[in-house]
Amino acid sequence: MVTHIFQRFFIIWLLFLLSLIASNEAYENVSLGSSIKASDRSSSWQSSSGDFAFGFRRIENQNLFLLAIWFDNIPNKTLVWYANGDNPAPEGSKIDLTLDGQFILSDPQGVVVWKPQPFPGRVDYAAMMDTGNFVLAGNSSEPSGYLWESFKHPTDTILPTQVLETGGMLSSRQKESNYSKGRFQLRLLPDGNLVLNTIALPTEYAYEAYYVSDTFGGSVPMNSGYLVVFNQTGYIYIVRRNGDIKNLTSGDIVPTKEFYHRAILEYDGVFTQYAHRKAPRSGSLDETWSRVWSIPNDICSDIQGERGGGTCGFNSYCILGANGRPVCECLPGFSFVDPNNKFNGCNQDKVQQCEQNASNNPRDLYEMRVLSNTFWPNSANFEMLPFNEDKCTSSCLDDCNCVVAVIAEGICHKKKLPLSNGRVNRNRSGKALIKLLKSEVSPGNTCFPEAGKGKKDQATLILVGSLLLGGSVFLNFLLIPLIAIVAFSSYHKIQKLNRVSSLSTIIETNLRPFTFEDLRLATEGFKEELGRGAFGTVYKGVLASTSTSSTIVAVKQLNKLVQESEKEFKTEITAIAKTHHKNLVRLLGFCEEGPHRLLVYEFMSNGTLASFLFGNSTPDWDKRTQMALGIAKGIMYLHEECSTQIIHCDIKPQNILLDDSFTARISDFGLAKLLMNDQTRTNTAIRGTKGYVAPEWFRSTPINAKVDVYSYGVLLLEIICCRKNVEMEKENEEEAILIDWAYDCYKLQRLDKLVENDEEARNDMRRLERLVMVAIWCIQEDPSLRPSMKKVIQMIEGVVEVSAPPCPSPFSSN
Ligand SMILES: *[C@@H]1O[C@H](CO)[C@@H](O)[C@H](O)[C@H]1NC(C)=O
Ligand SMILES: *[C@@H]1O[C@H](CO)[C@@H](O)[C@H](O)[C@H]1NC(C)=O
Ligand SMILES: *[C@@H]1O[C@H](CO)[C@@H](O)[C@H](O)[C@H]1NC(C)=O
Ligand SMILES: *[C@@H]1O[C@H](CO)[C@@H](O)[C@H](O)[C@H]1NC(C)=O
Ligand SMILES: *[C@@H]1O[C@H](CO)[C@@H](O)[C@H](O)[C@H]1NC(C)=O
Ligand SMILES: *[C@@H]1O[C@H](CO)[C@@H](O)[C@H](O)[C@H]1NC(C)=O
Ligand SMILES: *[C@@H]1O[C@H](CO)[C@@H](O)[C@H](O)[C@H]1NC(C)=O
Ligand SMILES: *[C@@H]1O[C@H](CO)[C@@H](O)[C@H](O)[C@H]1NC(C)=O
Repeated sequence: MVTHIFQRFFIIWLLFLLSLIASNEAYENVSLGSSIKASDRSSSWQSSSGDFAFGFRRIENQNLFLLAIWFDNIPNKTLVWYANGDNPAPEGSKIDLTLDGQFILSDPQGVVVWKPQPFPGRVDYAAMMDTGNFVLAGNSSEPSGYLWESFKHPTDTILPTQVLETGGMLSSRQKESNYSKGRFQLRLLPDGNLVLNTIALPTEYAYEAYYVSDTFGGSVPMNSGYLVVFNQTGYIYIVRRNGDIKNLTSGDIVPTKEFYHRAILEYDGVFTQYAHRKAPRSGSLDETWSRVWSIPNDICSDIQGERGGGTCGFNSYCILGANGRPVCECLPGFSFVDPNNKFNGCNQDKVQQCEQNASNNPRDLYEMRVLSNTFWPNSANFEMLPFNEDKCTSSCLDDCNCVVAVIAEGICHKKKLPLSNGRVNRNRSGKALIKLLKSEVSPGNTCFPEAGKGKKDQATLILVGSLLLGGSVFLNFLLIPLIAIVAFSSYHKIQKLNRVSSLSTIIETNLRPFTFEDLRLATEGFKEELGRGAFGTVYKGVLASTSTSSTIVAVKQLNKLVQESEKEFKTEITAIAKTHHKNLVRLLGFCEEGPHRLLVYEFMSNGTLASFLFGNSTPDWDKRTQMALGIAKGIMYLHEECSTQIIHCDIKPQNILLDDSFTARISDFGLAKLLMNDQTRTNTAIRGTKGYVAPEWFRSTPINAKVDVYSYGVLLLEIICCRKNVEMEKENEEEAILIDWAYDCYKLQRLDKLVENDEEARNDMRRLERLVMVAIWCIQEDPSLRPSMKKVIQMIEGVVEVSAPPCPSPFSSN
């Protein structure tokens, strides 16, 4: 039986290898009479090195194919050219190099889908060159000897050795996986300038450029640029007629011997050069395209023209994201015209009309929502000055044409639809007030449960992993390459999912930006210190929210961030701000000014769980178990219900605060990423919280959410016993380390010893035992044995049975 299965496996594997070989056949010259059919299994014409291939690629999630050229030697077969982006071909379509030298893409009915522009001469053969250029060669009078070449008809990408001549153009695609013509162009104009501009679709009327290379000749035509060269060494530059060059690539560049290079006009209008290592280094999974440089520097602000909708289309605004790429958002009360393409602008959900009912007071109908640092500099405008915020607000409310009022530098700009060229500019102070129908104002709960795609990938990995463990050595040998492929692609997917852009939503979260001076005043010069932890020092402060009321807040001054985190600061605090749970401390605002990074939280009036538990009297047992459950729910929420998973990394009683009603609220979550680097992982920051730290921190194994489960287990025992995990001064040495002692007591069925001075707990032995068992499950040395927080909650609540936990550290001396 086993050998039978094995044989089948072997045959399947051989077939797999053979299929690889079959489609890897390297053609150098494609002779007349050759053809390829569009299907997932179709072969391709490869360049002699195998770096590039020409053939059909399926469009993601569609039964349509592109005739394309791609990088064939990397896992992500990145397209560099496509013939029929506007007109993808159905399965069964065919590209023919006919005996009479025609080159035609036709659909299964024989209708021509695409063919190259007519050229003089007779085709003798076609070839996929090692540069990525696909050529038709024949009795040409061209110096290159080619009748037609893909390098002369680029789509959105250029490659080393490719040259754009005057009049040459790149055209962006609609979006990552829609290859129709998009809204952005790169052109080398007859005046010598290389420009980037948006266009009106479908007329392709070109709007003002948002990048200009300044290589026009002016009165000296010889100084004008006439070629854009992507040279063999990977540099891109403009050549002037007098032979001078203007570098576009700046700085040094990784060698083309070891790296693939490409430059693409992205679907979001940013022209970017990327590099990708050719052969993956052994054992590394991190081979992806990395950005070398891009233009323009800030597309959100550089698009200036009065016409066209800007980067993001009308009624939206643009935020500069990572790698110089824009992120588009709709105004509150608006939705994307095309939810699948956020660069096409937004429409108002409920159209605001001018002939509204005169008996209705606009103040009853509308309210103003604030967006900080957001501007529409080119939209139709009605300026008033000097005007303060109150006057500006009421003027906009009373003006039925006004949808947005922007207040900047003491001027109130009232704007009507359509709004164009919206952008967030953090360097400019000012804010936009959006007029919203009151009925549309939603409660702003923005922490969505995730659909769980990443989890599925991990499940695949685990499945494959267990296959691997279960199989024979030889079988493993056969499986390893497959697993490597699966692991590789899953890894990338997971990476991508984790990078979901949260930057864009900073505005929706109602986070209030503060200046350092604001906070210095609020804390009276950082006078009253509330606490001090691994991440920074907390001070008490008072914010005057209106003239009559004020709010007490806790202002946390962060320690120096890990250098790389500087950029991520806003992303991380946005993720924090989006959390909304009754067992989490709420973030109200932040300050990012010069070297200062401060966070403003709700003030928790009843101190920390540590002072509550380890004080002089033993707190109420019921209250404690309630807190234990609440904390578990808070952690579960961070792990499973936020759009980006948050691992706390520092769960301990000092980080649990108690509000007015003694509800336990977790603080300091979301900061670990900003303040810990690999070094702190093994020493400094961790030392302070020794005793709560999962053992894997000290090994070079990956860290996941299970580290919080471990810390929670320790915390739970402390809540049960009202004592600290480590108490070296205990007379009885066995009692010094709580987690060891708790297991001993459990094993000896002497749980009463754990709660000696707590009659309430001793009278509730069943619950006590359940909680101790849950805690022991949580502190298992092997992370995979620890339950998820969800399971922890179910066990505490008694929804599921708690099985007998094994010894937490099976390999230690006891
Ligand atoms: C391709 O065909 C041309 C013309 O027949 C010939 O000169 C050239 O050597 C061929 N190249 C290869 C690699 O076979
Ligand atoms: C492949 O590369 C492109 C371009 O860098 C990227 O946008 C895309 O997400 C990648 N696909 C995968 C599966 O990694
Ligand atoms: C190529 O061949 C065709 C047909 O044989 C002939 O008419 C044409 O003049 C030739 N072109 C060149 C450039 O040699
Ligand atoms: C690409 O986008 C265009 C314009 O939005 C749309 O008409 C076309 O159907 C899309 N193509 C594919 C293959 O999804
Ligand atoms: C490519 O351009 C760079 C920058 O101008 C130059 O340093 C390099 O020598 C060029 N390489 C080749 C092969 O021309
Ligand atoms: C362009 O870049 C290359 C390589 O960095 C450098 O050697 C050259 O001097 C630069 N040329 C100009 C005109 O800046
Ligand atoms: C104006 O509002 C009143 C009360 O809300 C309503 O009864 C009346 O029909 C409205 N008139 C118009 C023209 O909408
Ligand atoms: C904002 O200021 C920083 C540093 O002063 C600068 O690098 C950045 O380009 C500016 N951004 C905008 C949009 O002006």
